[in-house]
Amino acid sequence: MRLPLLLLGASGIATARVHPYLYGVPKGPGTDINELAEIETVSTADNITLTNTTQPAPSTAPLAPATPGLAEPCAVVSSAVAALPSGARKVVPAELGMRCLQSVPLDKEGNVQLIDDLKLYLEWHSNLAYLKNPPPDYTEEPVDIIGEMNSMQKQLNSGGYTNEYDFQLDLNTLLNRAYDNHLAWQPDILAGVMQFQRPAGSELVSVSADGVALPEVFAYRDLELATQNETFKPSPIRTINGQEVEQYLQSVAVQADFHDADTRWNALFPSQALIASGVTFLGSFRTGKYQGPNTTMAFSNGTVKTAMNVAVVLADLEGVDNGQRLFDKFCQGPQPTSTSSATSTATITSSAAPSHTGYPKPVVIHPNLSLGGYHLNDTGYEDVAILSIPSYQSPNVQLFQDLMRDFIRTSVSMNKTKLIFDLRGNGGGNAILGYDSFKQVFPQAFQEPFGGTRYRAHEALDTIGQMTADFAANKTFVQTNATAFAENFEDTTQDDIILYTAGFNFEHQLDVDDKPLSSWNDMFGPNQMNGDNFTNEIRYNFSDEPSYTYPGFSVIGFLNNTNETQTPQPFKAENIVMLHDGMCSSTCTIVSELLKNQGGVRTIVVGGQPQFKPMQGIGGTKGAQSFEWDDVQIRSQIVFFLGSPAQQAEWNTTALGKTAFATQLFKRSAYSGGRAAGGINLRDNLRRADTSQTPLEFIYEAADCRMWYTAPMIGDVTMVWKGVVDRMFRGGGNGTMGMTGCVKGSTGDKSSVTGGGQGRGGEVAPGVQGEQGGGGLSQEFQGAARGEREILVWKWSLVIACIMGFFVY
Ligand SMILES: *[C@@H]1O[C@H](CO)[C@@H](O)[C@H](O)[C@H]1NC(C)=O
Ligand SMILES: *[C@@H]1O[C@H](CO)[C@@H](O)[C@H](O)[C@H]1NC(C)=O
Ligand SMILES: *[C@@H]1O[C@H](CO)[C@@H](O)[C@H](O)[C@H]1NC(C)=O
Ligand SMILES: *[C@@H]1O[C@H](CO)[C@@H](O)[C@H](O)[C@H]1NC(C)=O
Ligand SMILES: *[C@@H]1O[C@H](CO)[C@@H](O)[C@H](O)[C@H]1NC(C)=O
Ligand SMILES: *[C@@H]1O[C@H](CO)[C@@H](O)[C@H](O)[C@H]1NC(C)=O
Ligand SMILES: *[C@@H]1O[C@H](CO)[C@@H](O)[C@H](O)[C@H]1NC(C)=O
Ligand SMILES: *[C@@H]1O[C@H](CO)[C@@H](O)[C@H](O)[C@H]1NC(C)=O
Ligand SMILES: *[C@@H]1O[C@H](CO)[C@@H](O)[C@H](O)[C@H]1NC(C)=O
Ligand SMILES: *[C@@H]1O[C@H](CO)[C@@H](O)[C@H](O)[C@H]1NC(C)=O
Ligand SMILES: *[C@@H]1O[C@H](CO)[C@@H](O)[C@H](O)[C@H]1NC(C)=O
Ligand SMILES: *[C@@H]1O[C@H](CO)[C@@H](O)[C@H](O)[C@H]1NC(C)=O
Repeated sequence: MRLPLLLLGASGIATARVHPYLYGVPKGPGTDINELAEIETVSTADNITLTNTTQPAPSTAPLAPATPGLAEPCAVVSSAVAALPSGARKVVPAELGMRCLQSVPLDKEGNVQLIDDLKLYLEWHSNLAYLKNPPPDYTEEPVDIIGEMNSMQKQLNSGGYTNEYDFQLDLNTLLNRAYDNHLAWQPDILAGVMQFQRPAGSELVSVSADGVALPEVFAYRDLELATQNETFKPSPIRTINGQEVEQYLQSVAVQADFHDADTRWNALFPSQALIASGVTFLGSFRTGKYQGPNTTMAFSNGTVKTAMNVAVVLADLEGVDNGQRLFDKFCQGPQPTSTSSATSTATITSSAAPSHTGYPKPVVIHPNLSLGGYHLNDTGYEDVAILSIPSYQSPNVQLFQDLMRDFIRTSVSMNKTKLIFDLRGNGGGNAILGYDSFKQVFPQAFQEPFGGTRYRAHEALDTIGQMTADFAANKTFVQTNATAFAENFEDTTQDDIILYTAGFNFEHQLDVDDKPLSSWNDMFGPNQMNGDNFTNEIRYNFSDEPSYTYPGFSVIGFLNNTNETQTPQPFKAENIVMLHDGMCSSTCTIVSELLKNQGGVRTIVVGGQPQFKPMQGIGGTKGAQSFEWDDVQIRSQIVFFLGSPAQQAEWNTTALGKTAFATQLFKRSAYSGGRAAGGINLRDNLRRADTSQTPLEFIYEAADCRMWYTAPMIGDVTMVWKGVVDRMFRGGGNGTMGMTGCVKGSTGDKSSVTGGGQGRGGEVAPGVQGEQGGGGLSQEFQGAARGEREILVWKWSLVIACIMGFFVY
């Protein structure tokens, strides 16, 4: 007998999706740019030549007490942490932390089961086939995720792993090679117990001396120091841990989950935009996977500094005196109370006016710092407005829309004619705001956001879509048996069920030509493309609230905002430009796609590897919607409980039932905000008229122009914005630089707007070519359900609305 379905409390799901990993890098409570460099054990042995290998040892003793040599490493960690004064930062030497984690014994059977569970959930991941067989455009190595997971199962069975940590690291690394930040597996030991960091003060930065020369790598704090002390000349870093600096950094950079090497390079360093918005990510160099016991940097002036790497202990290790005890305590499912769940956005004190740290005074600012509007005052820049959007995470979507609209109107009334969308660092948020942002600057009726998406067509989805259609038609078993409904669903109402399954309800989707779909089969397809099956391409209906799942909110140009189609376009397309640094993901890529490929808006990108080449503006996932593990599970359970006893008995042996009641995946996840951390990309985002239907992240798109960071830009964001204006809005005559100021070799790529690449589709992937298949039953159910679709009263409540899973990141 199954327990009744308990939908997670509205608040539980509605709270922001806090990932213990951000950009592929584990997050912890301790990363703060202002943190004192107290752990640093720096040698000031000046002017050792680079070939001098005699390096001084760290001057402080390990933080662990003197313990007999053969003690259990976890016992040493546990007692070291216990001995710290209360309130002290819980750190131990990285190497010791590592040895503790590696002492956790292998759970062979559990891990074989875990991979079975993951394979079921990855059926929902949209782009497996493209990862395995990417189009020629794609810059990263192919990866056969399922095939490699099968090999790992074999390896488990044949004794190929000796401990739990090594297994988790391997599996985590495999999924990371998809370089899709909607796809993440964040397991208990890796993400929940400790976090590896280099010491405070080891943040780096890559800047060009004059904006023209290739950038060099410096200590971030040296640049700060230099602004306070004019005689101090920072010296670039030549080697790290004995390896040439660029080579070393490339080896660290791969841990970030961006599908672009220049983006992964930028992700090594603190991000101005993220610092401004209060995010605690200081770069994948500073925080990430275990990187050895210490970090040694040699500067070009000969100075060598060594510092010990640390493990920040996140979990309560009391009583954990060996690896088995660690397993017993942390590898059994959700912990009763999670101690510190770091949030990704700043908590704003009610008294202080919100502001972007280090930025000038804003014209408008969102209280959660997701959006700020700025004007440049300096002579020659009076015509410029800047929308700084470091995040699309604004559960109050109405406020976000209002602030953006106010800022645009104010700017126009103040004669600003140029607009910069500063989207640096933007990892996504509430998807609807991506479509709305496009409409804010292209309000005309003909500029309807395309927004074509599709799902991977798999067995469980087929059942879910069919049952969702049956439910809308009042045809499921529980709708004929009130007792069964009450038993299965307790307090969950029919409206809740509609809400949760709206994305799979064919009645609330449109086809590519904005026509209604006639049946679930008309939506499901499947279409065979690149050796896999996909649903037909669907579009949102922005005039139908359930379709886009933000009740009470009207996108500009639709419903309550229909009259805005009369608003004159506030800026000419050529006077709008996007500023990217590659980290744009998810919702950020929705707006970027529309601005570029529908609006013809150009892009400038900043940073990247020290190479005179073009750079892509976007390195994050371009998926249109993510699902967390529990999003998948809840949908599967809802549908299971709608069924008759006979249907349920059948589903128990199929993907639907197995997905609904999988346990091992949830047992071995890290938890964050009460939810199992991790999930998949649910929907591919597709380009209008791309006959190859290539998911957007597999299409190479260079920015129109690339700019290096310079030292003054690091400390003053207005220098970045002026750099954008100089290159993108000035003609190049009258002594102004124009696009000749772009990085050598970075302009004119055929995929960029100025290179003629607007609207350019993907290349058909090698191997199996696209062919239209399936969908033959499309007319069968036509009309059957339509008359009854209004029967279930649409009773949206704002509270449950947030749980819709429409949130994408
Ligand atoms: C350190 O060595 C470099 C190169 O060997 C030299 O140019 C520099 O003057 C030296 N600095 C000091 C402070 O001795
Ligand atoms: C290396 O540096 C040390 C000082 O830390 C010095 O004593 C030694 O002579 C140097 N060796 C070489 C080969 O330069
Ligand atoms: C780095 O750590 C290792 C292992 O603890 C130690 O043997 C070595 O001396 C350290 N190197 C430096 C330069 O401190
Ligand atoms: C400024 O930098 C120079 C060169 O590194 C140093 O000698 C001096 O002490 C610094 N001044 C202050 C006030 O820190
Ligand atoms: C060499 O450069 C490093 C990094 O900028 C700096 O910390 C150090 O003080 C410099 N050493 C000398 C002797 O100038
Ligand atoms: C523009 O001037 C206002 C008023 O003096 C100031 O508050 C604001 O910070 C300035 N903005 C920029 C971008 O410098
Ligand atoms: C904007 O331009 C108009 C027409 O040139 C002028 O009358 C008005 O004063 C200007 N407004 C501002 C805020 O500069
Ligand atoms: C659904 O069908 C059941 C039984 O066939 C009926 O009692 C119920 O009123 C119907 N619900 C709606 C909303 O029409
Ligand atoms: C209705 O559901 C209840 C509870 O599952 C079951 O006991 C009963 O037999 C069902 N009635 C019919 C007519 O199927
Ligand atoms: C795609 O669907 C067809 C027919 O529905 C099925 O035979 C085939 O196995 C599916 N392919 C994959 C990769 O699931
Ligand atoms: C439209 O406005 C009405 C009245 O203010 C409001 O009740 C409704 O929720 C709005 N609908 C949408 C989709 O914005
Ligand atoms: C649209 O209508 C609203 C409310 O009636 C009004 O406040 C707004 O100014 C109108 N917008 C345009 C562009 O006419």
